[in-house]
Amino acid sequence: MDKQKQNDQSRMDRIVSLAKRRGFIFQSSEIYGGLNGFWDYGPLGVSLKRNLKEAWWHDMVAGHDELATLTGAPAPYEMTGLDCTIIMHPQVWKCSGHFDLFHDWMIDCRESKRRYRYDHLHGRWAAHRGKKVFVTTEASGDEAGPETVARAQKFFGLRAKQVDEIEWGGGLESLQQAIAAGSATLADTLGPDAAAPGSLTEPREFNLMFETRIGALAGDDDDRAFLRPETAQGIFVNFKNVLDTSRVRVPFGIAQVGKSFRNEITPRNFTFRSREFEQMEIEFFCRPADSADWYRFWRDRRWKWYLGLGLTEGRLQLREHHAEELSHYSVGTADIEYAFPFLAEGEFGELEGIAHRGDFDLRSHMEGKLVRRDGELVVETGADGKPRHRGSGKDLSYFDDVSRERYVPHVIEPSAGADRATLAFLCDAYHEDEVPDEDGKPRSRTVMKFHPRLAPVKAAILPLVKKDGMPEVAIDLYRALKPHMACQYDEKGSVGRRYARQDEAGTPWCLTIDGQTLADRTVTLRDRDSLVQERVTIAEVVDLLRDRL
Ligand code: GAP
Repeated sequence: MDKQKQNDQSRMDRIVSLAKRRGFIFQSSEIYGGLNGFWDYGPLGVSLKRNLKEAWWHDMVAGHDELATLTGAPAPYEMTGLDCTIIMHPQVWKCSGHFDLFHDWMIDCRESKRRYRYDHLHGRWAAHRGKKVFVTTEASGDEAGPETVARAQKFFGLRAKQVDEIEWGGGLESLQQAIAAGSATLADTLGPDAAAPGSLTEPREFNLMFETRIGALAGDDDDRAFLRPETAQGIFVNFKNVLDTSRVRVPFGIAQVGKSFRNEITPRNFTFRSREFEQMEIEFFCRPADSADWYRFWRDRRWKWYLGLGLTEGRLQLREHHAEELSHYSVGTADIEYAFPFLAEGEFGELEGIAHRGDFDLRSHMEGKLVRRDGELVVETGADGKPRHRGSGKDLSYFDDVSRERYVPHVIEPSAGADRATLAFLCDAYHEDEVPDEDGKPRSRTVMKFHPRLAPVKAAILPLVKKDGMPEVAIDLYRALKPHMACQYDEKGSVGRRYARQDEAGTPWCLTIDGQTLADRTVTLRDRDSLVQERVTIAEVVDLLRDRL
């Protein structure tokens, strides 16, 4: 592992440890040993994530100016919201394609009892004195090469100085592709945690939807239901309800924030890949002829949103998918990605996908599950010539009473993960620096530099000492500020320790009440990032902080 990677990994370890220690994120059911892929948000974490979701809802929906043409938008547009159930009619998932297609290939190791995603394994041939093995690893990026060397060394029983005796049959390649191409076999493959080759099972398909049963007498196949793997489908199946009950006209968007569930084979990287998580999704309906312009608008708007909330531009990437990466229905997709510290140098993890989905979703729920044949989306049929999965038969087309056109709207979908974004903001905010302590000596500090809109606590009110009337003035100030923003009163410990506590929580401003306050009704306002301390009057504090927020 190179030095940069080690630094990033230990930085990630420190972020995870701060998240636990300061009550941002805990492992679910921790007192029973935890549950892999499930996470709880503690007192600071719940506020951080809630602030993030509220910022998203405000900026995309509630605060949207429907009369203005936003920069880059082809026209003014409307935004509205929904809150749909987690369990929906099973036919929804059959028509959406999730029932048939939402799976990963998994592979088990009979020796280590571990389970892997087939597409996550990479390997290469290693030979020593006539013995050959295809060595695999789950590591990615810069770590994968050295990891296979270490594993081959162990397998052949070599000392460090003999490593050069290993002959390598080319570079790392995907195990899945090597098996498909016939250049490796499972019998020759050394699993990532196995001591001998041949322990990996044949790959099996694994649907990622969590299944449940509806009703007390549940038993037969008709009772089978699924926890939603995305919030989007609730929006599509309510498209007609929204049109019929509100005054929206195309172009318009429907937004939803809520839980989604995916039975991920290998949940990992803290909350990045969880089995239960929240999504913030918009389905934006537009005229087919304008859809390419709307796609570009949403892609750029969503990119700017993350920057506006302070994510470091150098760690963000906007990546257009190549044609071969696109889903069978997608006309164009871009991902907004972040360089999480747990990833290898140069790798990015997806925060949000912005997809041009054409008319795939509305047509699927009208006509039945669609597949692409000769470049066209057509209803998939079974051996009997009937639709494989029947649609609702409801007319989900749109009639434009101004242009007198009828069409099935095209959809642009900006789909973001609330937990992934929270994790990105948590990683990005984490800083270590030095500040002078009360005696002017340098003291190292950990500070979470959250954007004030996201910070769980906006201001802390600190009486310098617990006497001389300072707590009374501080409590009055706390009560004046509390109706306007999340703030905390803290009188415990030295003021230096109290600043340190607030820095770790990411509180942008500390207000200190001292001897001078009693004389002239001013307090010290300390800025978390610049450490500048200014004197402001108590009378102006509320307006001043509201303005800065
Ligand atoms: N409706 C489209 C859709 O669901 P997706 O790329 O599968 O698209 C959208 O998911 C976003 O949801 C991702 O960009 C990511 O932020 C979040 N997400 C997906 N799977 C996740 C998981 N297992 N854990 C945490 N977040 C996840």
